[in-house]
Amino acid sequence: MRPCTEMRCLRVRPARRLHGRLRVPGDKSISHRAVILGGIAEGETRIEGFLGADDCLRTARAMHEMGVGIEGLPSESLRVRGVGLRGLRRPGRALDMGNSGTGMRLLLGLVAGQGFEATLTGDESLSRRPMDRIALPLGQMGARVSGRGEKVLPPVTVHGGDLRGIAYRLPMASAQVKSAILLAGLNAVGPTTVIEPARSRDHTERMLRAMGADLEADDLTITLTPGQPLAAQNVSVPADFSSAAFFLVAALLVPESEVVLEQVLLNPTRAALLEVLQEMGADVQVAGRREVAGEEVGDIIASSCHLHATEAAGAMIPRLIDEVPLLAVAATQAEGVAIIRDAAELRVKESDRLAAMAEGLAAMSARIEELPDGLIITGPSSLRGATVSSHGDHRVAMALAIAGLVAEGETVIEDTDCIATSFPGFAERLRGLGADCIEEE
Ligand code: S3P
Repeated sequence: MRPCTEMRCLRVRPARRLHGRLRVPGDKSISHRAVILGGIAEGETRIEGFLGADDCLRTARAMHEMGVGIEGLPSESLRVRGVGLRGLRRPGRALDMGNSGTGMRLLLGLVAGQGFEATLTGDESLSRRPMDRIALPLGQMGARVSGRGEKVLPPVTVHGGDLRGIAYRLPMASAQVKSAILLAGLNAVGPTTVIEPARSRDHTERMLRAMGADLEADDLTITLTPGQPLAAQNVSVPADFSSAAFFLVAALLVPESEVVLEQVLLNPTRAALLEVLQEMGADVQVAGRREVAGEEVGDIIASSCHLHATEAAGAMIPRLIDEVPLLAVAATQAEGVAIIRDAAELRVKESDRLAAMAEGLAAMSARIEELPDGLIITGPSSLRGATVSSHGDHRVAMALAIAGLVAEGETVIEDTDCIATSFPGFAERLRGLGADCIEEE
């Protein structure tokens, strides 16, 4: 056995069969928003199912640093005492957002509407991620956002102040940018309109409306008219579709498997992977669909099956943006040529996910080709275990671990501390289904 050097790594061996029921932790996007919007609401917001992973804990701590009382950290049940729309106070130090692009971008929008200045920092990966996409619209609204170079890289300082509402056409389908503008718009003079090129996740809009904001959404156009205080609401966070997706694909690929994933978020702006997998012939069913706190949830039942290749492109991509690495893994086991296009946004995530997946899966003997905005994968391939890098990216790490379940021999994924940013307990849960995977220092 080759020793794992320096960083934590995950060793995965081929799985014979995966079987069981489980509930994955709470949704990351909804957890961020619950603690942010709860923090500026009037009254106490109780959050159940909060994701106690590093990304969301950073956002919660940043809100606390700006004067919001939060009880229960780092558990799943939080009480957030809202300070009102303009009640935040200047933080005593820079807000360290760790690896979290969502945390940083949403908070830049939030602080823009407050009468103070704040600096937000992040880890090495976050420090490479562009904030110009936020600086530009917030600048048009009257805030000043400065960072390093043309791309406004972190550390970023935002000078909040008197904002005016704008109409802004998003150059990319990004829920982070959309949400930052809407959060700033809460404290602007006049309405703010955001027009998306394709629908991105709509949790901010749903939660704002549930808290009493005057928000209208008509297909790709969202208009927020400020003036209403937000009323605290209890939020029950469903299980994260993006986390459940790893086990769902694992069950499809590993022979003789059946896995049930309980109470998973099925919001249509998030769950397009289900549509693509069904098109590929996947044996996936959804039972007990219902609405919980304004979001659709249900149990996903996935069994091993034969897959055939398909194409994923266009308006569907934003609705499965975080699942593309995993879709690439599924495509290695599907018959035919799978094409993923219009996914250039993946190059500016926690890592360049197109490059990272092409590198990792090629090292495991997949037939994979990188396009400027996607991947071409020819399957099925007999994957072979290899030592591969996560590139410090949680979704790359977990997607490669799923590939390792169907590879011959041992797969070692290096640098897997990052998994804790979104899914603490991932390896343990995979073992619970019958997989042979161990974490090593
Ligand atoms: C998120 C939006 C997406 C997604 C990220 C979470 C959010 O990013 O990739 O994991 O919670 O708003 P973009 O807005 O950059 O597409």
